Amino acid sequence: MRSTAEVRQLFIDFFAGKNHQTVASSSLIPAEDPTLLFVNAGMVQFKDVFLGAEKRSYTRATSSQRCVRAGGKHNDLDQVGYTARHHTFFEMLGNFSFGDYFKQEAIEYAWEFLTAVVGLPVEKLWVTVYEEDDEAEQIWRDVIGFPAERISRIGAKDNFWQMGDTGPCGPCTEIFYDHGESIAGGPPGTPEEDGDRYIEIWNLVFMQFDRQPDGSLQPLPNPCVDTGMGLERIASILQGKHDNYDIDLFQALIAEAARLTGYKDLGDASLKVIADHIRTCAFLIADGVLPSNEGRGYVLRRIIRRALRHGHKLGASEPFFHKMLGVLIVQMGEAYPELKTHQDTIEKQLLKEELKFAETLDTGMQLFKKATRNLQADVIPGEIAFKLYDTYGFPLDLTQDVAREQGQRVDVAGFENCMSEQKKRSRSNKSFTQTHQLSAESVQELSPTQFTGYDRTTDTATVIGLFSEGQALQRADAGQKAQLILDATPFYAESGGQVGDIGVLQTEGVRAQVLDTQKVAGQYHLHEVEVLEGTLEIGLRIQAIADAEYRNKVILNHSATHLLHKVLREYLGNHVQQKGSLVNADKLRFDFSHEGPLSAEDVRTVEQRVNQAIRQNYSTEAQLMAYDQAIQSGAMALFGEKYGDEVRVLSMGDFSVELCGGTHVQATGDIGLFKIIEETSVAAGVRRIEAVTGDRALAYIQSQDVLLSQAAALVNATAPKLPEAVTSLLEKNKALEKQLEQVKKQQLGDQLGDVFDAVEENGGKYYLQHVFEQVDSGQLRDMVDRFKSHHDPGIVVFASANPDGKVQLVVGVTKGAVASFKAGNVIKDILAHIGGRGGGRPDFAQGGGDASADEIRNAIEKTLSGLQEG
Ligand code: ALA
Repeated sequence: MRSTAEVRQLFIDFFAGKNHQTVASSSLIPAEDPTLLFVNAGMVQFKDVFLGAEKRSYTRATSSQRCVRAGGKHNDLDQVGYTARHHTFFEMLGNFSFGDYFKQEAIEYAWEFLTAVVGLPVEKLWVTVYEEDDEAEQIWRDVIGFPAERISRIGAKDNFWQMGDTGPCGPCTEIFYDHGESIAGGPPGTPEEDGDRYIEIWNLVFMQFDRQPDGSLQPLPNPCVDTGMGLERIASILQGKHDNYDIDLFQALIAEAARLTGYKDLGDASLKVIADHIRTCAFLIADGVLPSNEGRGYVLRRIIRRALRHGHKLGASEPFFHKMLGVLIVQMGEAYPELKTHQDTIEKQLLKEELKFAETLDTGMQLFKKATRNLQADVIPGEIAFKLYDTYGFPLDLTQDVAREQGQRVDVAGFENCMSEQKKRSRSNKSFTQTHQLSAESVQELSPTQFTGYDRTTDTATVIGLFSEGQALQRADAGQKAQLILDATPFYAESGGQVGDIGVLQTEGVRAQVLDTQKVAGQYHLHEVEVLEGTLEIGLRIQAIADAEYRNKVILNHSATHLLHKVLREYLGNHVQQKGSLVNADKLRFDFSHEGPLSAEDVRTVEQRVNQAIRQNYSTEAQLMAYDQAIQSGAMALFGEKYGDEVRVLSMGDFSVELCGGTHVQATGDIGLFKIIEETSVAAGVRRIEAVTGDRALAYIQSQDVLLSQAAALVNATAPKLPEAVTSLLEKNKALEKQLEQVKKQQLGDQLGDVFDAVEENGGKYYLQHVFEQVDSGQLRDMVDRFKSHHDPGIVVFASANPDGKVQLVVGVTKGAVASFKAGNVIKDILAHIGGRGGGRPDFAQGGGDASADEIRNAIEKTLSGLQEG
């Protein structure tokens, strides 16, 4: 019996023997591709090669690519656990031709591998072709000799493959395997095709078009081949199993899930779900995704929660999911060493999610049961699903999953309504829309830009491309803005966090300002220009002069970023991974994975160590080498970056070795000085450091110095004595405040005698009113009590007028007078004159508003005289 690992190797070796270059799986995070959530097929890393925008040294390739189909165009999440063949994570074996062979060889190779190499019986196979593809059918029939009655013609839904809403696509032919009569289902194209009997094992796509955002199809420069065979599916056939989950790898994971949850029935769908999901989650975290509430991180969180819910269903009462990693590493660690490298991070992140979700899983499930117990219909209202989502963190697909077990479904439209009303996470979708400025098609005729700027900032070059808003131009005149491509340029194009160069392009009579430089299709430097003088045209020879001073500031920051990255990993630990970086002329910004803020002391230590590395004056060196060799030699590669076969390794002595295409200092001493200006949080588990270097760092420190001296001068001290001086000032201030309070009390006491002299008696009741300056409400209340104790029956109104134009008001009515007056009514009457607000009990009320002392005095008088008359 062949193990899954052996099948993988057999495939790669077969195509390597047919002159295919073996290419390693890329990360699950598509490099610089905003159109795709996760890598969902083997062809993704070759997308630009199909489009003709990227050239490689080979025209045939083979790979085993890790893929995730959860969220986005190809989403299998719902089916996982309920069919024999769906996974959120799987490996896709593929062979690719970039304008080399086409339909016939593609079909012949597949046939040879399936029948001669792994020996599948011909009578077990079934084939589909695209309904309009006579050529493919003819090859199957006449060249291969495949029985015509087992070839089905199928429409675009299944036999026209495309990566996403846009990008490379084309008709395909698929090979199916018949698992035998004992399993329900019919051949493809029949009404019973959804059964599990006939299973698609290999898809051969004849890439011929590039789907545009408007839906139209542009022909590719060269017809290509992209194939994909699910490793798990072919392994299950070769291991004599029908269900993918019965293969060696899944059986090991299922046994472990059963052990950890204490559940005995190994055929349970929940165990399959857990076995599937641990692979997806582990690889996503290894590839740098962290659970969050947005975008990729949210898909990860949903999958984790779905796994936890199934564990809960099996009876797991303790965190179990993170413990699956050990067995996963035994099964897959050899082919994917990154699992081992990131074991610690993966386990920690999963455990954290388990603890977080455990708090609400129970309560949420109870709510779900209660809410659905008495439901007549089999549709669960969207509001319930939304409440579970909003209050208990149940992603919609998790609720759908639970509903499905009970034979119910969720009103998704209702859920979405509730969601859009809440209008929360609109951002997550926005970041996955197409943002290309120039289509790859418009540049593919040009040869890639040669970047000459690693060791110079000035060069002579020829204009080979000129565009405006995506349209090709022949010329651009003074006053016009355009985008321009040169055959060679010293202008660095923004990438790897480093901003693009600015500068000028000039020749006699022509001058253009370069405002920015960006990359298109990975290998063209696009200069954003504004023509100042003369005319730019295709074929013109010009001097390209990048702004050296600007560039120099940028490179100090870029080189310092490498040092910082290294120091953070050394000091905080290897869980630190770069999450984003921006390097411009002003500062550097570095985002990295780490839990919790750095202490002031940590920040100082990091600063010290980076400065030490600067003083070591390590010389920098760039070397081109094969990717594998670079990784073996210990170079740090970044997640989500796209690397070719040959990579540029940037080392600073033996201190830092990173894959990097950016421009750098010659020796770290050039950086001069490194100063952190801010350490903040960007998202859960991601910190951000902002720092300055060189002149900027010095200027920053000097400005801090100036502030310090200014502050010291204000308190008549020297800088070192400033804290002492400020402390004594604060103490003095406190003492003064206390004194002031006493003086005020005293004054008030003196005043009170006069105030109380003004009590009037009228009709057997006492009346008193007075407006004070700046008295607090506690004092006002005290004075009311004092009045009440001596003047029953009586009514008193005190106000305090403050310099900010506000007044406070209190009204007191004694016991003997409440039958006649209600304090609440009285205060309302007074405040009505000034438009203020207030209220209270019959014997006491307070309020306030905007008025001067005179205004409030008038208001009180009006009300009180009204009372006395009435
Ligand atoms: N890219 C093709 C698929 O994913 C082979 O099916």
